[in-house]
Amino acid sequence: TKLKMFVDELPDMPRIKSYDIINGVHVPKSFNIGMYHKKWKFHRDLPATSVFAYGTSRYTATVPGPTIEAVHRVDSYITWQNHLPSKHILPWDPTIPTATPKNGIPTVVHLHGGIDEPQSDGHSEAWFTQRFQNHGPKWSKKRYHYHNVQHPGTMWYHDHAMGLTRVNILAGLMGAYVIQQPNVEGPLGLLYGEEYDRPLVVFDRAFKPDGSIYMNSTGNNPCIHPQWQPEYFGDAIIVNGKAWPYMKVKRRKYRFRIINASNARFFRFFFTNNMTFIHVASDSAYHETPVELRELLLAPSEIADVIADFSKSESHSAILANDAPYPYPSGDPVNEENSKVMKFVINPHRQVDTANIPRNLIKYPSPDVSEAASNTRYIAFYEYASDIDEPTHLYINGKTFEAPVTETPRVGTSEIWNVINLTEDNHPMHIHLGLFVVLEQRELVNVEEFKGCMLKLNDAIKCKVDKYSIGKKKEVVLHEKGWKNVYKMMPGHVTKILVKFSFIHSNESYPFDATAEPGYVYHCHILDHEDNVMMRPLKLIN
Ligand code: C2O
Ligand code: CU
Repeated sequence: TKLKMFVDELPDMPRIKSYDIINGVHVPKSFNIGMYHKKWKFHRDLPATSVFAYGTSRYTATVPGPTIEAVHRVDSYITWQNHLPSKHILPWDPTIPTATPKNGIPTVVHLHGGIDEPQSDGHSEAWFTQRFQNHGPKWSKKRYHYHNVQHPGTMWYHDHAMGLTRVNILAGLMGAYVIQQPNVEGPLGLLYGEEYDRPLVVFDRAFKPDGSIYMNSTGNNPCIHPQWQPEYFGDAIIVNGKAWPYMKVKRRKYRFRIINASNARFFRFFFTNNMTFIHVASDSAYHETPVELRELLLAPSEIADVIADFSKSESHSAILANDAPYPYPSGDPVNEENSKVMKFVINPHRQVDTANIPRNLIKYPSPDVSEAASNTRYIAFYEYASDIDEPTHLYINGKTFEAPVTETPRVGTSEIWNVINLTEDNHPMHIHLGLFVVLEQRELVNVEEFKGCMLKLNDAIKCKVDKYSIGKKKEVVLHEKGWKNVYKMMPGHVTKILVKFSFIHSNESYPFDATAEPGYVYHCHILDHEDNVMMRPLKLIN
């Protein structure tokens, strides 16, 4: 039986202010957020689902977790506490590099888009189990320190445990995190307060009739990896914890911070009533000027911060729809279920709307390409297949995650990374700590010949990458020309990015030692790829 769409109202997740106000002044705050095993109703007609949820208590825990609101320059200290049982609710696979404690479910929290000290960055091997009884080799402290000194914008926090990220996030361990900077954002006129500024955490799930999350428990290469599958997809589209919800809106502007929290699904969003998105920020950073868009392509973990103006609607309802094939770009076309996301029910009466769409947003200093050019790297993405032609694992630069670190940027510098995608999938690459600007994306010619050389030598220079990266140039679209923390690495292309290992908004140095242990990581954000093991260490040096 199919679930009826648009019967549950869109929730707004509980909001937690990560600061106190004393005598009108914002001051740092220290608090706990737990991870709990509980039941969650994804749909009116679906029995409650077993989930892992973040919250300040078992009763208040939600999927997604609470929205954490921070204020620029006000520190917050969060102790993430694992209250999970000993047995996972989803099938994981011990044959891929995985945290395997004596007992308990390993978890660790990464603030995605955060510019944070390594000890609080949620390194995959800094995992811990219930009551910190067991922890990974890179674990160092219970209480994470978030400085919140970076530029304002939207982030999300999610689990990052070695080999378990895909199942821990699938179980529900994710939530939104916003840094506000009133003196910079206020004058833009974009902040509308809680009612009109809404995070939308979107992901796909499949359910069994008893309500539990369905995940194929047999791998695509069962003799090699009994459980691992290369991509998880579900037909139910969930927004803020409800399947195909509806939201009643006034005839006015709303701000939506849309976070793609899927394992592997790309979304290409559009409104069925011809409304547009006014795009103001991509991932965690505003770009220079608003960009009006009819459609919006979001890879896993990309964030679109948009204004939707319902006063422009001629109809009394609008469906937020999706038409991205899965896997992207060459997989199946969308179907009746996964092509719908949510519905807006628009109040017929006109509204006074003082919200403003500014001509200009925030102009950050432009990246210095010539300086960065002296630090150039080549990062190649490979996929390996078995005799039955099914993917077995994916690597970056042909290396395991444990192989000694090779990416060692100097604090305060910028680098050029040429990301060479030798696979058939689009891989959204995410770098911890560093933000980047996409400079160019160029198709490889004679890609099979080049790939043959790369598989043998694994050296882009020896394989004469310049001879092959001369194909068609793919323009970076206007709203993705600013600072990003994830970008879509097109198959058969070389994507040239400039990564900055210092703040984008000021010349100040980091208020922490970015060279400290355990360092950082970078990886593909298709979670099933990241876990097996399209991820490499990133270690900053002085
Ligand atoms: Cu959103 Cu390393 O992760
Ligand atoms: Cu990938």
